[in-house]
Amino acid sequence: MRYFIGNWKMFGVPKSVNILNKINSYYSRDKNRNKYRVVITPPYTLIESYSRHFKNKRVTIGAQNCYQKEHFSSNTAAISPYMLKSVGANYTLVGHSDNRGEGDTDPMLKDKVRYAIKNNLKVVFCIGENKIEKKNKKTLSVLKKQLTRVLEKKFDKNKLIIAYEPIWSIGTGKIPLAKELKKTTIYIKKILKEIFKKDSPPVLYGGSVDGSNVEMFKEIKEIDGFLIGGASKTSKKFIDIIKNYYR
Ligand code: 13P
Repeated sequence: MRYFIGNWKMFGVPKSVNILNKINSYYSRDKNRNKYRVVITPPYTLIESYSRHFKNKRVTIGAQNCYQKEHFSSNTAAISPYMLKSVGANYTLVGHSDNRGEGDTDPMLKDKVRYAIKNNLKVVFCIGENKIEKKNKKTLSVLKKQLTRVLEKKFDKNKLIIAYEPIWSIGTGKIPLAKELKKTTIYIKKILKEIFKKDSPPVLYGGSVDGSNVEMFKEIKEIDGFLIGGASKTSKKFIDIIKNYYR
């Protein structure tokens, strides 16, 4: 199974559903449709209405983050995994570099992953090195820490997806060299196999993926799909990624 996950970040109002309607109608008719899943993570404000709208359609709705407590609490503006599930979200991102940059720590991320899984959300756990770490050849050690400090063997592996997003690649048009990315993805899967003592969960790539570079990524068989930012905000760009992946 491959995944095409569109992360809208701070984008979208109710009428933006038109973008997803177009994606959904392509997806419903695509002869390759059973080989992949399309998940979109709109902002919190749209999760309930979009989840209802796509309930019996193919596109799946998720959240971009969740709070590190399970049900209700007195944390202003916080949204728990239970609350997300109750309005129809089926997935949530956890650990996006935007949120790590705003103060999400490993212990917080561990609780987010734990409570999201407990509430039957699929977790897309994001990891990635920054530019300086890459320059200092620290990529693999950074990724190992990000994985081992948060993930535990007892977490349900079937509810986890890992997204490798090098921070220097997000929104910059810069992408890793194929050789390097293959090596990194294999390494991530090796660490995951050590944690879970069996198969690795799927590993996605994210960072400046678009319709023209996806052909390069598809040569790397270890990559199970993509986390897509900018190109998920227009139906044509998003559909082009899927089309060119299966061409
Ligand atoms: P871009 O595709 O815009 O580089 O964003 C990637 C990302 O951060 C998705 O979560």
